[in-house]
This record gives sequence, C-alpha cells and structure tokens, in this order.
Amino acid sequence: MVLSRRGSGSITLPSGQTMTIHTRTHEEEDLPHATKKTMADHLRKYDSLFTLTPQRMRMVVEAFKDTLELGLQKPQQPMIPTYVFGWPTGTEIGDFLAVDLGGTNLRVCLVNLQGEGKFEITQAKYRLTEEQKQDDGQKLFDFCAECLKTFVDTNLADDNGELSLRPGETLPLGFTFSYPCSQERIDHGVLIRWTKGFGAPNTEGRDVAEMFRQSLAKYKLPIALTALINDTTGTLIASHYVNPRTKIAVIFGTGCNAAYMEKVGDIEKIKSLGIDEDAEMAINCEWGAFDSFEHEHLPRTKYDIIVDETSNKPGEQAFEKLISGRYLGEILRLVICELIDEGVLFLGQETYKLEIPYVFETAFLSLMESDPTDELLMIIGIFTHFFAVETTLAERQFFRALAKLIGRRAARLSACGIAAIVSKMGYLDEGCSVGADGSLYNKYPGFADRVHEGLQDIFGDKGKNIVTYHAEDGSGVGSAIIAAMTKLRKDVGLYNHV
Ligand code: BGC
Repeated sequence: MVLSRRGSGSITLPSGQTMTIHTRTHEEEDLPHATKKTMADHLRKYDSLFTLTPQRMRMVVEAFKDTLELGLQKPQQPMIPTYVFGWPTGTEIGDFLAVDLGGTNLRVCLVNLQGEGKFEITQAKYRLTEEQKQDDGQKLFDFCAECLKTFVDTNLADDNGELSLRPGETLPLGFTFSYPCSQERIDHGVLIRWTKGFGAPNTEGRDVAEMFRQSLAKYKLPIALTALINDTTGTLIASHYVNPRTKIAVIFGTGCNAAYMEKVGDIEKIKSLGIDEDAEMAINCEWGAFDSFEHEHLPRTKYDIIVDETSNKPGEQAFEKLISGRYLGEILRLVICELIDEGVLFLGQETYKLEIPYVFETAFLSLMESDPTDELLMIIGIFTHFFAVETTLAERQFFRALAKLIGRRAARLSACGIAAIVSKMGYLDEGCSVGADGSLYNKYPGFADRVHEGLQDIFGDKGKNIVTYHAEDGSGVGSAIIAAMTKLRKDVGLYNHV
C-alpha cells in the first residue's frame, strides 16, 4: 500500500481484519524538547534490556548445544526421533494428500509429486477459531476430517461423487501436526503438550494419529494416515528435495522450531531398537522448549516473564516465547502499558483498548518497521484505527525503535539456535543451507538479514557459510514426500524402523 501524506488507504492484516488508515498529519514536530528527550531516555533503557551482545549470544549457543546433546541421550523431549529415515531420493512420485494443522490455519493439500524436485499442489485453507483451539480435541480432529472430506469431494470425486479407487484401496495421507509429539513410529505420535495457545482438552498424552483416524472413520473417508509429521521435519525434507545443500530446517511463525538429520548411531536414546547405526533419521528439535522452567540461559526481561506467567502454559516454551510471532506483539504491548502506567504515554487519553492481552499483533511490528514515511503515517494509522489514541512523532519514532529492538532480539536468538545445530554437527567449515519458513521469516522486514548478521557475530566471517533461504512448503509438500518415502519403505517390507 502507498500512503499519501493526506488521504486514506487500507491494508489487510494476517488476522483478516482490514485497517483503513486516515493519514491525518497532526503536526507535532515542534514538541517540547523535554518530551523528545524523555522518549530517547526510555529508549536507552529498552535498548540495553533487549540488545544481545555477541559474547552473550555465544554463551547461549554453548548452553543450547549441551541441551541438544543431552536431548539425544535422554528418552524425554526435546530432540524427538521422527522415524523419517534419510533424505528423499527424488524418485518419490504420485498423488498424496496432506492435512496441516498449524498454529493459525488448517490446510488441506493434494500434492502431485513428479520426481526430481518437481511437484504440483492444489490446496484449501480453513481458518481455526479460538474456540476450536480450546474445545475438545476429538472435535478438532473431526473438523479436520470434515474439511478433508469437503476437499476430496471437490477435488478428487467424479461427477457422481465417487473416487476412482480399486476395492480396498486407500489414499495415502501425511498429517502435519506441529506440536511436540513423542513418536515410536512414523504413523503414531503422543502429544506431549499443546503449544502456541492451543489448549484442547483430552488430547495431551494421547496418540493424535489414532484420534485423527477415528475422525476419518466417522466421515467414511477411504484415506490412510501414513505419516504423522512435524512442520520442521516436512520443511527439512521438502527443502532438500529441491535443494540438496539443505541440512537444517527452521520455522519462525506463530511458533518456532528446527529439524536436522542425525546419524542413528548418535541418537543414544533409541539405541536399544537395533536400527542400523549408519542410517540417518530426522530429529525434531522442539527447540522452543529450550531453557524452559529453569530459565538459566536466556536473557528474559520482566516483560518476557509476564508473557510467560500469564500464558496458558507458564514455564514452558521459554525460547519460543522470546522469538515467535505469537508473542512479539504482546511483549511490545506490555512495554507500552508500563509507560502508560508511568504517565509517560498517552496522557489524558483513553487507553483501555491497549490494555487487552494479545491485541497488539506481531504484524503491527512489521508494519511499523517498514513504514516508509518521515511522519510515520502507518504508525499513526495503527494507533488511531485499532486503539483510538493519538501519537506524537517522538512517540512513533520510539515505537518503531522498540519494534526494532524486539524483532532484532528475536532474530539474533534464532541465530543462536541455528548456530548450536551447526556447531554440534560441524557444518561451519563446509557451510550449509538452512530452509526457513513461517510468517516471521517471510514477512517481518529484515528478519533474515538479522539472523545472518547474528550468525556472523557468533562465528565471525565463517558465519557467512551458513545461509538461510525461504524453504519449500514443508507442511504440504514435505508431508506428501514423507508419506511417499514411507510408502516406498513399506513396499519393500520396511514398515517401522527395521
Ligand atoms: C511446536 C513445534 C512446531 C513449531 C512451529 C512449536 O510451538 O512445538 O512442534 O514445529 O511451533 O510451528
């Protein structure tokens, strides 16, 4: 959108809301000097709270690395063996369905794998309501099955509503379920805990693959859930399918996490299964849980502590709460509320709209950082339209600087996670590509550059050997490739891990 100095424009936010911006230039450039100075003083305080020095980053990386190592030994999360064996060969072909239950939407895809890195995808998206995220788990899976049925009827059935399947034949489905699940095999997974604000009861501690199968049966769908996968694992496989230099996949979206390929012989906790030690298996790091409960290593501010303590899962997902899209807006809102309470901001104005938790979307931080106008008209629009408050230029500059501090810290901490895997696996000298996906990575201005800058702060010049790039769609295409890989293994009699 182009903003004129005067007039109006509109923009659609990720939440689907449309914001009309009236670019009223309430000229206050000549604010009293004292006000400007106060905002600058405040900024200095937040600058020191939210800035991570290279030295501090290296300390985080070391602790992170230890956690990764330990996770491979202990039969508890994080570092979840996924039973996805090795890289795709490019020979995976055929039609596969994928259902992707992410943090915000539900997506159903039909992926036609054509081999050698080529594919076609047809998909439909369904928005999940906040109620559905908190309602009974089986109902959530029923909704997934219902959407899948609608999709299959629309895209696969003939004019008589029939699928052209041989008797007893089923369509293979990859189910991307992006929450921590402990797996004993590829088509099974016990939900360890909900993340990203989900709280559907009767689901934690249960095999979600089995729950989804029950829902598929309710809708009489001739579909076989072949693989239960995490979005990071899907991203790892899909990215490698098109770019074999990829060794790590990361998601920076509503949640955050990473996956990489490990030698089976180095996954101590599954040694007793007797799997060929030279085989490789993808590991879902579930790194969002790094430093949870103990809070020894991460630089948490008091705002982060409030975010944590007021969340539906206090103590958990400590790393994720500093980084992911679900929380960045809330962190900034808490700083604003503190300054309102201190009488620094919006004196004499009604601020109740800003006092509601999570009203300040992370998309606002992106918009604030990318505001191209000198007067920061976009920021005027955000504050007047959504919160009915007027801002001075000094305040707007302050908000933009604050967004930058919070966004930059998220990116630098993300770099620490990537650096820990790189360093553990010895990828630095040779270099590697990191497939990255998620709204924060894709839409937040400068996020990738800040991650790269962070990697150089940690590793020096060699940090340039590690390059992130926009990954292939892991939750759809990756899920299908994994379903295909699993089918190929089954066809040669390798059902589970042997
Ligand atoms: C979940 C991960 C997921 C990540 C990104 C986190 O909250 O625990 O399983 O990969 O979000 O979607």
